[in-house]
Amino acid sequence: MNATSTLPCHIAIVMDGNGRWARLRNQPRSFGHRAGKKAMRETVEGCLRQGIGTLTLFAFSSENWQRPESEVRALMALFMNALDKEVDALHEQSVRLRFIGDLEAFSKSLQCRMHEVATHTAKNKKLNLNLAVSYGGRWVISQAARRAAADVVRGELKIEDIDEVALGCRMNLSDLPPPDLLIRTGGEHRISNFLLWQMAYTELHFTDTLWPDFDRHCLQKAVDDYGRRERRYGRIGSQTTRRQQDSA
Ligand code: FPP
Repeated sequence: MNATSTLPCHIAIVMDGNGRWARLRNQPRSFGHRAGKKAMRETVEGCLRQGIGTLTLFAFSSENWQRPESEVRALMALFMNALDKEVDALHEQSVRLRFIGDLEAFSKSLQCRMHEVATHTAKNKKLNLNLAVSYGGRWVISQAARRAAADVVRGELKIEDIDEVALGCRMNLSDLPPPDLLIRTGGEHRISNFLLWQMAYTELHFTDTLWPDFDRHCLQKAVDDYGRRERRYGRIGSQTTRRQQDSA
């Protein structure tokens, strides 16, 4: 975040509560996921309207593969369908789509489609929309450690040069600022292995709203809550106030 701005540059969201939303309506869980897709669209619109530069959505965790096969199948179909139906409109709105996570876990056709979409939208500037799929924060950190080790073996990196910067730049999204604000819907108060490395100083906003009910008003509420936070990054209050005055 710019020190004088109260608008987050990067919002990350754990979209939780689709299953419960469907159960409340005596519907199968896939009904909730379909409604969740609409909430995603509305949230993207909200970010575009507010000028938020980056939105990272937790769509499918590495642990979600353990769900019943029928639910995983329904989610994959929905994912493919969203890639086919939504991408043109997103591209027209200058949204750049990226996929982070263990993409090799997906079918070849989905991998291919994700690659096409990321390439097609790569030059878009208005909103970076990152979809975390088959994603686990610990997996990302261990992959970066593996890459650093491989670079040491190749003689391209010295062991004494392995630090936070060297590891961080071996992860996806290293060109983007870390999330300023994490929103988790659905009433649970946990991180669930999302963006573990990047969220060291992220402000957390939890809401009981189930994801399919999340709309632009909920987004605004979270952004307003964020605007009232004092981000100290380990310093004391008077130092951060001074920093804000200095850069004004
Ligand atoms: C968490 O709710 C939600 C998910 C695991 C899937 C998120 C998927 C969408 C928002 C649908 C659209 C996604 C794409 C990429 C098209 P939950 O199922 O854990 O809900 P519960 O906690 O109420 O059971």
